[in-house]
Amino acid sequence: MPYRLIRPLLFALDAERAHNLSIAALRMMPTAAAPKSDPMLTIRVAGISFPNPVGLAAGYDKDGRVAHKMHGLGFGFAELGTLTPLAQPGNPQPRLFRLKEDRAVINRFGFNNGGQGAACDRIARYRRPKGKGPVIGINIGANKDATAAGRGVADYVTGVQVMSPLADYLTVNISSPNTPGLRALQGRGPLDELLGAVMAERGVDRTPIFLKVAPDLEPADVEDIAAACIDHGIDALIVSNTTITRPPLRSPYADEAGGLSGAPLHDLSLERIRDFRRLLGRKLPLIGVGGISTADQAYARIRAGASLIQLYSALVYEGPYLARRINAGLKLLMKRDGVANIADAMGVDA
Ligand SMILES: Cc1cc2nc3c(=O)[nH]c(=O)nc-3n(C[C@H](O)[C@H](O)[C@H](O)COP(=O)(O)O)c2cc1C
Repeated sequence: MPYRLIRPLLFALDAERAHNLSIAALRMMPTAAAPKSDPMLTIRVAGISFPNPVGLAAGYDKDGRVAHKMHGLGFGFAELGTLTPLAQPGNPQPRLFRLKEDRAVINRFGFNNGGQGAACDRIARYRRPKGKGPVIGINIGANKDATAAGRGVADYVTGVQVMSPLADYLTVNISSPNTPGLRALQGRGPLDELLGAVMAERGVDRTPIFLKVAPDLEPADVEDIAAACIDHGIDALIVSNTTITRPPLRSPYADEAGGLSGAPLHDLSLERIRDFRRLLGRKLPLIGVGGISTADQAYARIRAGASLIQLYSALVYEGPYLARRINAGLKLLMKRDGVANIADAMGVDA
């Protein structure tokens, strides 16, 4: 059934309930065969071969229930999590809002998840050996209590120890606005301590480690983060998480507390990719996230310097097959420009 017919039914439900329903539906879906590589779209980043550059952003599949099915919808990779060492309930409901008029979402989930132990058991059941099957990233965070007690770094170290055997890459998420104190880890001193600790913990297989940052950064923050990533040998930078700013919005939910994502985040995230690209050149792969809902926007993000892109909020408005459409659209744009492989478009506007 076309998504435009299903959407009003989903939108009649509370947003979190609709989300849970979509996960339940995907769980019932058969797992598709291994993702096919397309010579135009295949790209190698941080030693990993991605069948196409369009990924599912973290937060949709927090507990790793369906990450291994997303390639069936056209995604080149899926990032599950954020997972914290211990299970935690997150903030009270309601904590997820659709801003229909703005094609946006506000969430203040606060890392609700079943904990890394339970996720390991689940993921191990479907995980193929690394490098085989769909590319799966695991996004790790710190528990609320540990962050409040100043023990956040230890939680990330635990995350690396516990999750790296199951991940093609790990994402250190220090940019969610819904855990008080978490974003403070983006400052140079705390960031040096954190990155030093997590990179030292990488196992013998040296799982690539990506860092995910907020879009709400001053120029000095951008410089500090870029320098810290290079100093510590981080493998890629994900730009960006949700914003705590509020560009002009029309929805009645505009003033809900939490992180804003979707269309109103687009320009801010693009601006941050440009900032990091300007500072880093080609020294560090970038992953562009924020407000992407069309092939044109995905292409522009890649041309601005991203090697890969991710999306989440646009799925709410455009339906589950958006990644497939974006990939088809990317190929048309590349043919128009005479680009043989997507890597050749990376950074051409920078
Ligand atoms: C409901 C919701 C939950 C999210 N949860 C997480 C999370 O747990 N960890 C994380 O790193 N990002 C999380 N994000 C941020 C997304 O991964 C992404 O960075 C952001 O939404 C911008 O992309 P978009 O505009 O395509 O949604 C969440 C986003 C949404 C909308």
